Amino acid sequence: MIVARGVDAMKRAWHRDLVDDPEAHAWVLSLYRAGELYPDTVDDYFPARHAPWPWLAEALTRHHDDERRHGAMFARAITRAGFAIEAHAGDDVFNHVIRACTPAPWRIDDGDAGDVRRAKLAHFLAHAHHLERRVSRSLEMHFDACEQGGATVAAKVVETVLRDEVRHVGYTLDAARELVGDVRAEGIVALHARAEARADLLFSARQVRRFLARFGSRATPSRRARYTLCAALQSIAASVA
Ligand SMILES: [Fe+2]
Ligand SMILES: [Fe+2]
Repeated sequence: MIVARGVDAMKRAWHRDLVDDPEAHAWVLSLYRAGELYPDTVDDYFPARHAPWPWLAEALTRHHDDERRHGAMFARAITRAGFAIEAHAGDDVFNHVIRACTPAPWRIDDGDAGDVRRAKLAHFLAHAHHLERRVSRSLEMHFDACEQGGATVAAKVVETVLRDEVRHVGYTLDAARELVGDVRAEGIVALHARAEARADLLFSARQVRRFLARFGSRATPSRRARYTLCAALQSIAASVA
């Protein structure tokens, strides 16, 4: 509990440092944007046509539209701040990292039987649920930092995006349970929770190191030392997760 509170305080301090440096702030907004764009770089996200109920097909389609809109919102916030939009790929996109930590694929084939489709859809929804939870936690911290730092344009964007992400957290879990039942869903959700926990450590450690390499000279020596230590601890924790 004490360690978790320490990591939380460190992350909050990091978000404040990011917001205080306009260039670093644009960089972190571009990382959020990369996650929003990820669904359009793959062919197995939001498989609405395989949903067994119209309400779920509509929810998946709306979800996909939300992420595209979020990507455009982050892009506008970056350009309004006077910076070019930076593209990211591979291990710099959280979705990519969490998938690399996930042992269960969910791509649905047309020949899959109904129960197989439901199970794969439940896996996608459980993956999305934990991804959205992680994004929501990060955006909550970032919103607080924007408010404290007077970054009003970014704060408004983050607040709007966060509202949608919280909705995504909720319906994805409900739908996974509806698809396969509570007992089976529990195992599926737990599998994706483990993937998210490991990916969170790997991604955070990597991005803290990238921040230090690029913007670290502008942080105080004590902050630099703490961030370096934090990244090292996260890497160690990821290696045993
Ligand atoms: Fe989003
Ligand atoms: Fe989302």
